Amino acid sequence: MNASLQLADAAATERLAAALADAQPPGAVVYLHGDLGAGKSTLARAWLRRLGVTGTVRSPTYTLVERYPLGAGGEALHLDLYRIGDPGELEYLGLDDAAAALWLVEWPQRGAGALPPADLEVALALAGTGRAAALTPRSARGRAWLAACRLSEVEGLS
Ligand SMILES: Nc1ncnc2c1ncn2[C@@H]1O[C@H](COP(=O)(O)OP(=O)(O)OP(=O)(O)O)[C@@H](O)[C@H]1O
Ligand SMILES: [Mg+2]
Repeated sequence: MNASLQLADAAATERLAAALADAQPPGAVVYLHGDLGAGKSTLARAWLRRLGVTGTVRSPTYTLVERYPLGAGGEALHLDLYRIGDPGELEYLGLDDAAAALWLVEWPQRGAGALPPADLEVALALAGTGRAAALTPRSARGRAWLAACRLSEVEGLS
């Protein structure tokens, strides 16, 4: 089951992040699609905050990856592959699939073949002054996850 949502403002994007984080299975792999400025980093930042990350959440535009230890154990990985030259560069980042409690990947198509397969794909697009979000599960646990998500309050009344 796919889901489509209208996100009227950045606060709605943040509510979507919280709803997804609250039902997230351990080790979830999320691909974040959307043009420049679509709201991928806004979603990732709010998601990490929901998981208890309190320090600065930097955009991994130049570092390709930022890593966040989680209180619950493991670490969250936030990747932005916009500036990667070749998917092979991912090998040099020393990312450990097994230890990652979460993968949030912006511009995943640029890492094709070198990333773990997605459980969930989130596509964001400009829609008027807001954004449209399309959620597509890509694994059995991704489907269970989406079914368990409380998305009803994400769009809000605005
Ligand atoms: N639902 C929304 N409605 C309106 N503005 C939004 C919404 N969600 C996020 N924004 C705003 O869009 C702007 C760009 O967001 P963001 O930096 O997250 O985009 P991005 O997809 O990560 O872009 P890039 O590919 O350049 O990294 C921010 O100013 C953010 O507040
Ligand atoms: Mg970004």
